[in-house]
Amino acid sequence: MLGADAKERIYAPVADDLERVIANIAGVAEADGPGPPPEIEARLAQVLATPGKRIRPAITLLTSKLWGRIPDERTIKMATAVELLHIASLIHDDTVDSADTRRGHATASNLWGGNIAVLLGDFVFATSATFVCDTNSVRLIRRFAQTIAELSRGELNEILESSTQKTDRERYLQRIYDKTASLFSTSAESGAVLGEGDEESVANVRQYGYNLGMAYQVLDDLLDYESNPEQLGKPTANDLSNGVLTLPAILAYESGDAADEIAAFLNANDAERPRLLTVAYDAICSSDALERSRGIANDYIDAALQNLESVADSESRDALIQLTGYIRDRQF
Ligand code: IPE
Ligand code: IPE
Ligand code: MG
Ligand code: MG
Repeated sequence: MLGADAKERIYAPVADDLERVIANIAGVAEADGPGPPPEIEARLAQVLATPGKRIRPAITLLTSKLWGRIPDERTIKMATAVELLHIASLIHDDTVDSADTRRGHATASNLWGGNIAVLLGDFVFATSATFVCDTNSVRLIRRFAQTIAELSRGELNEILESSTQKTDRERYLQRIYDKTASLFSTSAESGAVLGEGDEESVANVRQYGYNLGMAYQVLDDLLDYESNPEQLGKPTANDLSNGVLTLPAILAYESGDAADEIAAFLNANDAERPRLLTVAYDAICSSDALERSRGIANDYIDAALQNLESVADSESRDALIQLTGYIRDRQF
């Protein structure tokens, strides 16, 4: 199993730069000037102090080095912006998903309620935007703003399609592009732009981010079925219980292996819900939908690797290749 050590090895070419990003993030809670009031400061500090895997800023830093440049201050700011945007989206996501834990700790909505969590998330969203402005690149600022819109659209569509059988594979793929692969592709593209790659290479690197992000969300949705909360540090078996049909459920529905069970669960009254949830969940798990979902994730991983083929060999290219393996084999 690939664990924390494997990740540190992959991040090694940008370890010092990542430390600067981490310091920037910690600094958000103690900003001078129009920073948060003291009551908020402590809460923000608590949320920001729990580290995630930092995959997105690592992608920005690594892609910025593909043409031999050393990450400069603008690149550090961009990498900070993508991680802050991700953190803000998680604060809101956990609120709408009624998730009690994240990164092994109680979520903001669990600790302080949905109202505070939404506003705290807004604060972090806004702060992420100030970091991207420091790149002085209208191209990157525009792409970043589009990413926020796509993220919101993905999360909105997920709620609107939940508890209905109206979703399908195509809508699912659009949703996971919006909520996850968009930010992955922005993380990769922004690094490539700041690293001064030629336009054809920037397009390939952006596509690498897209494919990696699609694989990441499919695999994360699979972990919701296959893993446990202790390992993941967040709730599992949560999607279906929230009425959200992700790829395993959609495939098992389409093939007929669990169509009746899923429909019965989605249409159940409150008293019947818990029992019918277990029935639907078991039907999905005993079909071949989990294996087929993994196959689809692997296809995205292969595509991501192909996107790097035309990029010249370097230490950071090698790290980006290894990152695909880390994501493919991730179990927590
Ligand atoms: C969680 O992202 C949300 C998804 C896109 C699945 P990560 O798994 O990257 O979360 P952290 O930052 O490592 O906690
Ligand atoms: C991912 O959504 C969060 C965002 C991309 C905003 P999920 O709800 O699927 O992810 P987890 O399982 O809570 O991390
Ligand atoms: Mg969630
Ligand atoms: Mg969600």
